[in-house]
Amino acid sequence: MDTLPTYSLKILASVGALSLGTFVLKTLLVLLQTFVLGGKSLAKYASNNKEAWAVVTGATDGIGKEFAFQLAAAKYNIILVSRTQGRLDDTASEIGKRYGRSTRTIAVDFEFASDHDFNRIAQSINDLDIAILVNNVGRSHEMPVAFAETALNEQKAIIAINVNATLRVTSLVLNKMLARKRGLVLTLSSFAGVIPSPLLATYSGSKAFLQTWSDALQSELKGSGVDVECVSTYFVSLNPENKVSNMSRIRRASMLIPMPEDYVSAVLRKIGVPCGALWTGRPSTSTPFWSHSLLDFVIHCIGWKGAFIRYTLSG
Ligand SMILES: NC(=O)c1ccc[n+]([C@@H]2O[C@H](COP(=O)([O-])OP(=O)(O)OC[C@H]3O[C@@H](n4cnc5c(N)ncnc54)[C@H](OP(=O)(O)O)[C@@H]3O)[C@@H](O)[C@H]2O)c1
Repeated sequence: MDTLPTYSLKILASVGALSLGTFVLKTLLVLLQTFVLGGKSLAKYASNNKEAWAVVTGATDGIGKEFAFQLAAAKYNIILVSRTQGRLDDTASEIGKRYGRSTRTIAVDFEFASDHDFNRIAQSINDLDIAILVNNVGRSHEMPVAFAETALNEQKAIIAINVNATLRVTSLVLNKMLARKRGLVLTLSSFAGVIPSPLLATYSGSKAFLQTWSDALQSELKGSGVDVECVSTYFVSLNPENKVSNMSRIRRASMLIPMPEDYVSAVLRKIGVPCGALWTGRPSTSTPFWSHSLLDFVIHCIGWKGAFIRYTLSG
């Protein structure tokens, strides 16, 4: 008669021990990946080719400009893509002076880009060994706004820039990467893509698209030599000397809101290492900056997603 409760207790204790063990192991792995382990070497994608190139979209400001600089410092030549030719020229000349790398510039507005514009990009990169693509360009809402009141033009622009441009530019480089059996497709997503963001619904959905698309692409390309990385970004602050755009509009860096140089340096040091995103176990997703990693981990493992959504709505 009393063997059943004892037996049940043993099962409960085993399940509890297993859950606790898994939790402790995953927590240790997240800490190890966040603070100790490095990622894949960037040199791997160039494979000793001194003429390897990286394409960076949205390359003249904020995070994209920093990717262009740090990839040039890592000995990649850079193709800079954004709207304004003057800013492209300035960034290209800075890269030449600072890092001695070659550059090409392509002025295109992804909000209105036509097949002709994507053909122009294809022609500009046709003769080059593209080893890395950074899908950085992105647009959010001008102001937080309920979806019912979001202007159609704003909805269209967000989808054209965040989704359509990313797919089109990736399509332009992917087959060549596959033929060379090496390459990296790195896409900037956002916490808004993992945690629904009220009043930024279209932006949030577009970043969720990029996340799921990257995860699917990574699984498709496993073993091909082409890596897919989707970085889930919390806020990154505005570079003090760049006053023009910047999505976050936050000027002061803090523990949770790094400067673009610190953020990009973390991304490039942790390629292939999920850090805090380990908890959700998505194939391509990473939260490489240390405080974003811990925030991602805490939100998902403690189940604070609902609280985070309420916090966004109240802010
Ligand atoms: N900053 C953050 O806190 C944060 C947080 C989460 C995710 N992210 C993601 O990180 C990425 C970069 O954000 P950011 O804050 O660094 O952006 P940013 O400072 O606003 O820079 C945007 C870059 O894209 C170019 N650009 C803007 N609209 C364009 C268009 N229609 N066509 C072509 N180029 C265009 C801009 O140059 P021109 O104006 O000359 O075209 C500039 O080079 C985005 O995908 C964003 O969603 C950022």
